[in-house]
Amino acid sequence: MQIIIYDNAQLVAQSAANWVKELINKKTDPVLGLATGSTPISLYKQLVEQHKSNNLSFKNVTTFNLDEYHQIDPVSSQSYRSFMTEHLFKHVDIDVNNTYLPTCAVGENPRTQGLAYEEKIKQQGGVDLQVLGIGANGHIGFNEPTSSLSSRTRIKTLTQQTISDNSRLFKPGEQQPTMAMTMGIGTIMDARYVLLMATGANKANAVKDMIAGGVSAMCPASALQMHENAIILLDKAAASELSDQSYYQWADNENRKLIEHYGYFHNY
Ligand code: GLP
Repeated sequence: MQIIIYDNAQLVAQSAANWVKELINKKTDPVLGLATGSTPISLYKQLVEQHKSNNLSFKNVTTFNLDEYHQIDPVSSQSYRSFMTEHLFKHVDIDVNNTYLPTCAVGENPRTQGLAYEEKIKQQGGVDLQVLGIGANGHIGFNEPTSSLSSRTRIKTLTQQTISDNSRLFKPGEQQPTMAMTMGIGTIMDARYVLLMATGANKANAVKDMIAGGVSAMCPASALQMHENAIILLDKAAASELSDQSYYQWADNENRKLIEHYGYFHNY
């Protein structure tokens, strides 16, 4: 794991945007894994700005989102499709036909839908860079604690904690889904690079379990300890429970020197 601690959430977003930009500029047919939640909103803002000012083009980009609510109408304002449209897709030159979410509409079979999503990712050559947030209970995507560490795209029942954490996003009277389709942990682990963003003190315990705890299905994000290219971008508040912060900062400085000397080497 490469752990980088920034002074604030804005710098986390800037750094994440640089990773995405580098992938898009480097590869002719980049495949980007996307996440929802409040954390990546500032990343999407930066990407939109860069698209408008620096001509960062999404024309050849294919995207796969981590998750989507079960049986939700894609045009509902609460769907993750709408979230992505609002925060990214409608502001850039991406072809919406190349944007995928693991949907499961009323009448569709979640098993078939999950398999089809896996197949689609495979057909596109796999995900190059998967953006991730983390739930306060250590979940990634909607892989709640106890999710198999080798799970694939499937339907999951959300925990009470996740339902209550996300309830702030629903207006009074709006029905909040309790089930979702999500890439599995095995699916996420197949991405060539994973980029996890965590900001704010409410993530500090989950971040500590992910980095310094044992690999356990009780903290799904801890599976990233086994990923060859896991980059963890934290602000100071999210890093506050880590005991080795000075080592991570020192290692980051040393890495910067290597990058200055040898340039970036990302094997997409
Ligand atoms: C949701 C999403 C996750 C996200 C998490 C944290 O449950 N399924 O992908 O990482 O919430 O969201 P936030 O960034 O709002 O804290």
